[in-house]
Amino acid sequence: MADLYCPPCAGQGHRQLLATGLRCQQCGRRWPAFAGGTDFIAVLLPDPDASARMVGLVSALMRDPNVLSGWHDGEDPLENALAGGLLTYAQAHFGAYARPALAAPDLSWLARAWPTQLPPGPIVILGCATGGEAWALRKIAGLAGREVWMVDANLAALAWGQMLFDNGTVMLPYRPTATRIDWCPAELPESAPPVRWLCADALFPPFAGESVAAVVTVGLLDSVSDPAALVQQIEALLKPNGVWLMASPWNWQPRVTPVRRQLERHLPGGVPDGMAALLTGQVIAGLASDFTVEWRNDDVPWRLQVHARYVAEYRLQVMRLRKHV
Ligand SMILES: C[S@@+](CC[C@H](N)C(=O)[O-])C[C@H]1O[C@@H](n2cnc3c(N)ncnc32)[C@H](O)[C@@H]1O
Repeated sequence: MADLYCPPCAGQGHRQLLATGLRCQQCGRRWPAFAGGTDFIAVLLPDPDASARMVGLVSALMRDPNVLSGWHDGEDPLENALAGGLLTYAQAHFGAYARPALAAPDLSWLARAWPTQLPPGPIVILGCATGGEAWALRKIAGLAGREVWMVDANLAALAWGQMLFDNGTVMLPYRPTATRIDWCPAELPESAPPVRWLCADALFPPFAGESVAAVVTVGLLDSVSDPAALVQQIEALLKPNGVWLMASPWNWQPRVTPVRRQLERHLPGGVPDGMAALLTGQVIAGLASDFTVEWRNDDVPWRLQVHARYVAEYRLQVMRLRKHV
């Protein structure tokens, strides 16, 4: 199994392996874990207090799903974010298996974009929410026998995805209108692939450098505060010849990514050729210079239903980037 490292220590340049019990021998911090499914979910957000609070909140949600309405309607930013992510992506990833079926985007392009050749090692899906990418990739050759890590900062989405993958069936929360939350049964038509779930910040990924065969990010680069730092982390995580499967609608929002950090602002030309140049080291010195584009599709539809009268239609730019040997 891949080793896990202390995120704040890694942020300060010390890769410190976590000992049994998720304790860091360098800084002494002990990291919490969520125990709801067949396997624990380590919660390795850079702030241990935020990690512990998240475990408390999501444990309460698993005991009483009705708290979700209060999170959705309340003013606490963490509760709002946990509820919003769970509601949007439970439906987006698994709404097709709900009874009655709910509107959900087609993610089958992920399997078509998958490389035929990869070095040995784990696959890390960053920003996976409820785990739709692993479900979309379940039939690809080469997944079986590999460790697949599902990583997100939203423990509610991960815990719900884990429950579905463990049991094959679950109650799916969704918004029929802007203010109501309903639940309906959902059942997978076949077994989910075996995966590990991990709550972590993609900007401080708790894995060893050059240890990962493939990284997948769908809708993540424009959802973080520092996308250039995320690109650097992904470059550092991948083994030589490893692959980064990246998809983004480049929907920059100043409240998420400060304007000066929005990668698109650095482009002399426009998206999408400019983003392909940027992610292959041709725009910002020293950034992404290890990558070449192996495959790309600049216009993949991605429809997210927020509620029955509000559907957001994005167009993704998808690139398969290979790290030089
Ligand atoms: C736009 S959603 C995309 C979800 C999923 N990948 C999909 O394509 O349907 C972005 C996801 O990234 C997660 N996320 C945002 N910033 C993150 C970070 N710094 N570390 C880990 N996950 C993050 C959010 O919680 C959310 O689940």
